[in-house]
Amino acid sequence: MSQTATEAVTGTKLSINQLGKTYGKTVALQPVSLEVRTGELLTLLGPSGSGKTTLLQLISGLVDATTGRLIIDGVDQTDAPVHQRDIGVVFQSYALFPHLTVRENIAFPLQMRGTPADQIKSRVDDALAMVGLAHAADRSPRALSGGQQQRVALARCLVYRPSVILMDEPLGALDRKLREVMQDEIKRIHRETGATIIFVTHDQEEALALSDRICLMNNGQIEQIGTPREMYEKPASVFVADFIGESNIFKGAMENGQLATEVGSLPVQAATSADTSAVMVRPEDIILNGSEPWALDGTVIESTYAGSDTRVTIALKGDKMVIVRRPAQMDDLARGLAVKVSWKPEHACYLDN
Ligand SMILES: Nc1ncnc2c1ncn2[C@@H]1O[C@H](COP(=O)(O)OP(=O)(O)OP(=O)(O)O)[C@@H](O)[C@H]1O
Ligand SMILES: [Mg+2]
Repeated sequence: MSQTATEAVTGTKLSINQLGKTYGKTVALQPVSLEVRTGELLTLLGPSGSGKTTLLQLISGLVDATTGRLIIDGVDQTDAPVHQRDIGVVFQSYALFPHLTVRENIAFPLQMRGTPADQIKSRVDDALAMVGLAHAADRSPRALSGGQQQRVALARCLVYRPSVILMDEPLGALDRKLREVMQDEIKRIHRETGATIIFVTHDQEEALALSDRICLMNNGQIEQIGTPREMYEKPASVFVADFIGESNIFKGAMENGQLATEVGSLPVQAATSADTSAVMVRPEDIILNGSEPWALDGTVIESTYAGSDTRVTIALKGDKMVIVRRPAQMDDLARGLAVKVSWKPEHACYLDN
């Protein structure tokens, strides 16, 4: 690996330039462009069929691009075969060899690359230690749990020290607790190796937890790229606002300096564009029974205690539902209670697509 953990994130590792893929008449990936920075952990997030795996396959070289160029470390690798790219891949299905031991599985890619035998042992030991499986080196993968098998797959990728690691839903088969443990492991390995990691998931919480930046995909296109905070606080479209975190979205059109919606006329911030067609408010920014004169009439439908906060569903005019999160120590709201719903216009996001 060319980077060490202490080096800051610098420069561009991968330059993806109008890379696209079609299968017959099916457009799997529209031409997309994206710069992946050296040493960052970027997640490709998006619904099923949005093109995440296709983009990963194009980067790895497992699939040929229909359009565009792929530059790695300044060198055009669009037509380079898989094994000539300095890239490791980890899939959701671990694809371990059942007839080989854990150690032999991890040694396999080094043997394929003709690494001298004396180096293989120490490299495999290092990789085993990195994923915490030194004690299981001589077992069969069949004698391991799902989480342990995923660690072996990770070690098998780390062992040849690629400077780019691609992971396609590697934690999808694990239960929630184990997934969180493995997320921490991946963050630690990312720090320790300094590798550039592109991680595919359709789980927005996982993306928020792991990423330096998130690339949100939809319909074979990139909707928005940004840090988790930018994506949550400054979504560029209704799709992003809806996909990342919980949101309340009111659609409408600007009329006389307000947004006319099905639930009434909503105030907007000064200088809001005349093209605004939706306002988005996060559940934690909704105020109940505040003093704003425009506050909307609502009725409490459900109130669910969720540990650190309480999640309240409120019906507005026309049965438009609003989700509110309020600190758990506040009084419970009885079903059927009439409440006023408002927010500070500066806490809302104004969207035009
Ligand atoms: N080999 C193929 N032949 C034809 N169409 C394909 C092929 N691979 C992918 N597609 C199509 O391209 C689109 C994008 O697929 P892709 O596998 O990249 O999505 P994804 O975002 O990884 O979805 P998921 O979250 O379900 O894994 C889909 O509509 C899919 O049906
Ligand atoms: Mg996929």
